[in-house]
Amino acid sequence: MLKGKHIILGITGGIAAYKSVSLLRLLVKAGAEVQVVITPAGKEFITPVTLSALSGKPVVSEFFTANTGEWHSHVDLGLWADCMVIAPATASSIAKMANGVADNMLITTYLSAKSPVFIAPAMDLDMMAHPSTRRNIEALRSYGNHIIEPESGFLASGLIGKGRMEEPEKIVEVLDRFFEKIENQSLAGKKVLITAGPTYEAIDPVRFIGNYSSGKMGYALAAEAARRGAEVVLVSGPVSLPAPEGNVTRVDVTSAREMLTACEKVFDEADVAIFCAAVADYAPEHVADHKIKRGDMPEMTLKLVRNPDIAATLGARRHGGQTLVGFALETDDEMVNGRSKLERKHLDMVVINSMRDAGAGFSGDTNKITVVTAAGDEKSFPLKSKTEVAADIIDCIENISR
Ligand code: CTP
Repeated sequence: MLKGKHIILGITGGIAAYKSVSLLRLLVKAGAEVQVVITPAGKEFITPVTLSALSGKPVVSEFFTANTGEWHSHVDLGLWADCMVIAPATASSIAKMANGVADNMLITTYLSAKSPVFIAPAMDLDMMAHPSTRRNIEALRSYGNHIIEPESGFLASGLIGKGRMEEPEKIVEVLDRFFEKIENQSLAGKKVLITAGPTYEAIDPVRFIGNYSSGKMGYALAAEAARRGAEVVLVSGPVSLPAPEGNVTRVDVTSAREMLTACEKVFDEADVAIFCAAVADYAPEHVADHKIKRGDMPEMTLKLVRNPDIAATLGARRHGGQTLVGFALETDDEMVNGRSKLERKHLDMVVINSMRDAGAGFSGDTNKITVVTAAGDEKSFPLKSKTEVAADIIDCIENISR
């Protein structure tokens, strides 16, 4: 998959830079065109001569060549690349990337990169475990960067722990798998319906009952399905997100009833339906046609009536060949509740997230999921960015609809 790919290999100043030579060799051997960008500290560990000899290109390190004044454009480099790999990424470079401190050519190239970015941290175990490093890594993950987690093992300091840069062979495998995924148009010709975001149930013209759903998970799923070639209809509650790029028709709705009506229009033709919206279960029985005034009544009781269950309503009229997926955000008895939703709503798969897991759920940029299927399979995933979680979910859908 790497043949002909344009790859920027970013090398920062850590002892693991010696492994970057093997990584460069493997990438070139796989047919990639590699441009090395190295930080000034990186050059203390490994010489540009070795790197340019192996890549067949002059190594870029400074903003311009001192004796000729030739300017090295980080913007052009960022546009040229199909992907950027920063290996090793030291604690300091990670902090700069996370905070936009553009004080060397490598960081400016990172900030200009339009392509996917892979980051392979390497540092001593205490630095790796420090809350500031963890926070910076999580920030990079939330920007959509792919973190290639370091391994545990012997470190240059003589200590044993987590911080060893992943082996070059494994990094090449990660890249290979990534390109295999994006080039594979596995959902071409398929129609995918996705519900996303919260619903708002009006109380009066200025008030509603709603929830904290950001819509990020549903939008990430829409983007991922479209990237794999699907025609996507995204039925979205009120969120402040731009429509994903690609073949995505966004239908904006406000209430659960509107969401159901919009879904009913496309459901029969959908090959896959993913019910990701946090639909309000109840709505006020009556919506006041004027703003309810504070002085109107000394106390107020709102009578709520049950909203339609979109997933269950459509699940009851599903036809063969459709794959239906629901979500279950739970605070307790996650697996039991998740499985019961699977059966009750006639779904093929439920994605369970627990409110007890830090970083999982509604509003953040990350999620931690367990997938259960009607066939009885169960798979848990580590905390990842919602973009990565979307790819995992769609992989699971493809596996069960095969
Ligand atoms: N769902 C739906 N319509 C509703 C309620 C939920 O389509 N009125 C969908 C959600 O999009 C999700 C799944 O059903 O895919 C489970 O939603 P959840 O709110 O977790 O479950 P509920 O059925 O509402 O059950 P409970 O509130 O008891 O947890």
